[in-house]
Amino acid sequence: MSDATIRAVIDTDPGIDDAVAILHALSSPAFDILGLTTVAGNIGIATTTRNAGRILALAGRGDIPVIAGAPAPLSRKGFDTADIHGNDGLGGVRFPEPAVPPLADAVEWLAGLLMREPEGSIDILALGPLTNIARLVSDYPEAARRVRRLIAMGGAVDEPGNVGPRAEFNIAADPEAADIVFRAGVETVLVPLDVTRKVRATRAYTAALRETGVAAAAAASADLIDAYFLSTSGGESRPLHDPCVMLFAERPDLFRLETLPIAVDLGEAPEAGALDVDRKAGSAIAVAVKVDSEGALELLAARLSGE
Ligand code: BDR
Ligand code: CA
Repeated sequence: MSDATIRAVIDTDPGIDDAVAILHALSSPAFDILGLTTVAGNIGIATTTRNAGRILALAGRGDIPVIAGAPAPLSRKGFDTADIHGNDGLGGVRFPEPAVPPLADAVEWLAGLLMREPEGSIDILALGPLTNIARLVSDYPEAARRVRRLIAMGGAVDEPGNVGPRAEFNIAADPEAADIVFRAGVETVLVPLDVTRKVRATRAYTAALRETGVAAAAAASADLIDAYFLSTSGGESRPLHDPCVMLFAERPDLFRLETLPIAVDLGEAPEAGALDVDRKAGSAIAVAVKVDSEGALELLAARLSGE
């Protein structure tokens, strides 16, 4: 393991794009993934947890633990996105069953890991609602202070939302959790729709992934993205939201960050979870505002193909 290796826990609600992001991290020498903590989001906790185990089984990484986390947002009812991610959360794409049963209590497990490992050595790559991370911050503040960096997909800044005019799914699914996390002082990079909508897979992209032939991660990702084409409408390409977290972690030079005072709207839908840039009430968060889309897509394809 090189000094530059990113030692990380992935907090996730798989989910089609979560699966592609996890396969990227497992395929890349840049990451040492210590565990997958799960959260309800795209679909219920039993399914996101099972899917985390299925993705690890496909990648032959049954040695990485899956730890089940929050079954529901802190104080609201979650969304149901079965129309996008399918009843199984992975668009009906074939995956093996988990090699190992999941462990319980993601937040307690995360806290234990952070207290055991050197301070500032572990990143959290968050691909779903921030419920587990908010619980970590509230229940284990000492452990939360030891996180090196939280990189989270979520929000929309200068861009329309995807569940409301200004609200994005991961933040809107649990706005109170995002509010707690942003105020906690954990070093955070937010990867919003402003950049994830610019990293888009076309049919030609999935065809090229499939042609690489040998890598299971590439073939599965091609099937996942094709399933996403079937379940959503709109244009010739699909946005790769969650993979942008791994792409940022591995190649921050592909992105431009701006530190903005971010506040979360805690009102009612459809504004719930919308982000406000608010100099008085906001917390200073590094937000990804620009991306080299071509470079990002190239890196993702190379990693999924085993390069
Ligand atoms: C986010 O919402 C989920 O449906 C995706 O997995 C991604 O994390 C995009 O808004
Ligand atoms: Ca997700």
